[in-house]
Amino acid sequence: MELTDHISRTLAEFRFIPRLTPTGMTSDRIDLSAKLTKDKDEYEGLTLKLPVVSAAMQSVTGPDMSVALAQQGGMGVIFCSQNIEDEAKMIKAVKRARAGFVSNLEVVNPTTTLREVSDMISSTGYNTIPVVDGNKDKYGRLLGLIEGPIPINLPSSVKSEEFMRKFIQRPLEDIVHELRAENSEDQDIIRAVNDYVYHGESNITLDEANEILEEFYQKFIPIVNKDGTLKFMVFHKDLKAHQDFPDSVLDPGKRYLVGAAVNTHDYETRVPAVVEAGADVIFIDSSDGYSEYMRDTIRFIKDNFKVPVVAGNVISDEAFLYLVESGADAVKLGMGGGSICITQEQKGTGRGQATATFVIAEARDKYHKKTGTYIPLISDGGIATGKDISVALAMGADLVMMGKYFATCHESPPELIEREGNMYKEYWGEGSSRAKEWLNKRYGQTEFEEGVVAYVPYAGHVDKNLKDLSAKIRATMTSMGALNIQHLREQSNGSLELISESSRDEGKVHDVTEIKQG
Ligand code: IMP
Repeated sequence: MELTDHISRTLAEFRFIPRLTPTGMTSDRIDLSAKLTKDKDEYEGLTLKLPVVSAAMQSVTGPDMSVALAQQGGMGVIFCSQNIEDEAKMIKAVKRARAGFVSNLEVVNPTTTLREVSDMISSTGYNTIPVVDGNKDKYGRLLGLIEGPIPINLPSSVKSEEFMRKFIQRPLEDIVHELRAENSEDQDIIRAVNDYVYHGESNITLDEANEILEEFYQKFIPIVNKDGTLKFMVFHKDLKAHQDFPDSVLDPGKRYLVGAAVNTHDYETRVPAVVEAGADVIFIDSSDGYSEYMRDTIRFIKDNFKVPVVAGNVISDEAFLYLVESGADAVKLGMGGGSICITQEQKGTGRGQATATFVIAEARDKYHKKTGTYIPLISDGGIATGKDISVALAMGADLVMMGKYFATCHESPPELIEREGNMYKEYWGEGSSRAKEWLNKRYGQTEFEEGVVAYVPYAGHVDKNLKDLSAKIRATMTSMGALNIQHLREQSNGSLELISESSRDEGKVHDVTEIKQG
């Protein structure tokens, strides 16, 4: 038997030796964007503006986390340890949070009762419901509009047509022209535009629509075809999101990007549901992804859908190649390094995150050289600080996935808990019995645990935390004279050094007795 002579290294064991920082190299000039999936002949791979994704875990990524992350340029991956319908609902909630031209509107008919409209408002979260003479698939003519919430003192049997605001259909440009010519009071303008809708083949651009929303203080504009049938709507809240979060990562319909995790068991039903719900990328979740189950799942998705696939987790070059040759568009690496993970103790499988990243990045670079195809890598497990991320990127990762880091944030699904005056959130592994409860209920499965349930200190909102995190990564890159992630990798060649125990101690506060805050 031959033993590998690698010593498994963690990311925390490395330090950068700075390279020359050129004058004028300010942190705002540093580009942190990263390819998430490989480019194809038929379409370009997905790119994020910040190289971070949140772990597909019950205690980390729901719709709120995904929206908050996409607004900052990263991406959430919705967990698959739940019923298929629930996962699809979460993806739809992210997709609903923002849009450009909204064409998947929930609509009602003139005879729909207000009780039904009210139920629709609470179940979908939409507050503006068009009244049409068609249905969701084929809207028909736009007759009016109901804005929630519906007053509770109205008899619920009242029909939509008795309550809706009716529209007079006229070309929007005519209305806008008249309004600009008139010197009307603001209030009149609001009424005037809201009483009309755009008429004519929908050649209005999103920028033009947004300009009208701003100029005339509109909450929305319905757009209809020449024959008066509803085409889509544009909402002011989406324009505001565009202004407030300029780094947002969006799909072609201007909705936030979101990933969906699937497993290697129920993928034949789960994948169609999450794709239909709007998932931009599928992450096939497995604690050991070097398996024929993984290959079959990749092939199923590739044969039936156009959506990009991230496969993993793996920790060796041969496993990397196996996934790429099976069709993976990106590979996720790491085993046993997660903060709540007990896989190494339970199964004896795993590898230090630095070694796994480095070894697979080398295999990826060889593959790139040989085939011309660049496979993005996501380093996953045990990463929670700016320096961990910088080291992982320098070693060849394109992005990182983080669980604990995001579990501490306001937007993670668990409730805030107060313990002895401090605020915490619960964080549990996907391999813990707590996470597997949904499965046990369904299949009565019992397996040994690979993860624990823990508390993590509450750290506030995602936006504030990510600003701080990216400032640290940018500072490292400035010291390394690196303008982008690829450049960081090149600049770090020969400038990443293993540190000894005592050198690590030296890098911490030492030989002082009192540490003052602030
Ligand atoms: P963290 O960022 O160090 O908290 O690690 C998060 C990663 O740990 C996830 O993205 C998974 O790859 C992995 N993970 C999640 N749950 C478990 C578990 O129960 N056992 C082992 N690994 C887990």
